[in-house]
Amino acid sequence: MTTQFSFQVSTRCSQTKARAGVFHTPHGAVETPRFMPVGTLANVKTVTPTQLQETGAQMVLANTYHLHLQPGERIVEKAGGLHQFMRWNQPILTDSGGFQVFSLSEMRQITDDGVIFRSPHDGQMINLTPERSIQIQNALGADVIMAFDECPPYPASREEVEAATQRTYRWLERCISAHQRPDQALFGIVQGGVYPDLRAAAAEALAGLDLPGYAIGGVSVGEPPELIAKIVQATTPMLPVDKPRYLMGVGTYKEMAQAIASGMDLFDCVIPTRLARHGAALVKGERWNLKNSQYREDFQPLDETCPCYTCQNFTRAYISHLVRSQEILAYTLLTIHNITELVRFTQKIREAIIGDRFTTEFAQWLS
Ligand code: GUN
Ligand code: ZN
Repeated sequence: MTTQFSFQVSTRCSQTKARAGVFHTPHGAVETPRFMPVGTLANVKTVTPTQLQETGAQMVLANTYHLHLQPGERIVEKAGGLHQFMRWNQPILTDSGGFQVFSLSEMRQITDDGVIFRSPHDGQMINLTPERSIQIQNALGADVIMAFDECPPYPASREEVEAATQRTYRWLERCISAHQRPDQALFGIVQGGVYPDLRAAAAEALAGLDLPGYAIGGVSVGEPPELIAKIVQATTPMLPVDKPRYLMGVGTYKEMAQAIASGMDLFDCVIPTRLARHGAALVKGERWNLKNSQYREDFQPLDETCPCYTCQNFTRAYISHLVRSQEILAYTLLTIHNITELVRFTQKIREAIIGDRFTTEFAQWLS
C-alpha cells in the first residue's frame, strides 16, 4: 500500500527517547525532528514558495476544511493537485477537517456518521464524514493525509472523552477503507484528552492497524501546558518505534523539546506565522514586539546568528519602521524569520541527537 513511504531512524539519544530520522515521501524527504509551517489555504501567508523553501521548511500543512469551502477540491484536482496548484514541490500534509469544524463552525451536529455544519461562505449545510474527508484529501493529493477524528473539548468528562476516542477509532477504520491512493500515507490520530490510560489504550489500538504514521491530537486545546508532556509520555511507548510520530498543533520551544525527548518527530503550529502578522519576532526563545520603541534605532539584525534572508539583509530598526507603518513587507520579513527560527530549532535538536548532545545542549528546555 505505502511502498513510496519509509521512515528510517538513524540515531537514538542515549539519555531520552529522542530519535533522529528521515521520512521519505513521493515529494522528497523530511528530516526529523522537524517543525512544519502551516499553509491552511494552500499558501503560507505572506511568503512565496521560494521564500518558504529558503527557510528550511520541508513539509508544509494545508487544510481539508478550508480548501473544501474555497476553492473546492474539484478545482485543486483540475489544477493537477495541491503541489502543482500552490507550486510547492516538496512534501505536503493535509489535516482532515474535523478539528476545524469543531473549532471554527457554528451549528454543528455530531453523530456516529460524521459532522453536519453550516458553510460560513454560503450558509449551505455540509456533511463531513470520514469517507468524505478522505475523498477530499485524495482529490487534494497531499503526501500525508490525516484521519477524520473527534477532538473532545477541554475540559470534558472522562466519559465524554472515552466516547470521542472510541468514535475516532471507528472513524479511522472507515478512513482506511475509503482511502484510495497508495501515493498518500494515511496517519491515524490518538485522542484521549488528559487521561493517560485512555491515551495509552487508544495508541495501542491504533498501533494494531499498522499505519504508515501516527499523530497525537487533542492537545493544546486549553489544558494546562504542563499536561502536554504527560500526555505525550503516556502515548509514545504504545506506538511503533519505526513509524513517524506527529504532535498536532504544538510548536513552542519547550513543548517541542520535551515531546522530542519522549520520541515525537513532527510538529506544526500557527504561532510563528501568526505572531509575524502581529509584528512579533521569535528570537532566541523569546517573543519580541517590533513596535516597541527600543527597536526604533537598533541597527542590528533580529538575530546575528540567523541565516535567514531577513536577518542577512535588514535591521530591527527597519522592520520596526515597517511594522509601525503597517507595510506588508513587515509581515513577509517576520514570517521568513519566524519559520526559519523554529525549523532551525528542530534542526539543531536533530544535530544534537546525532552528536549525543541533546540533553546537555537543550537542558534549559527539558526541565
Ligand atoms: N490539529 C490540532 N489538534 C488536532 C486534532 O486533535 N485533530 C486534528 N484532526 N487536527 C488537529
Ligand atoms: Zn532570521
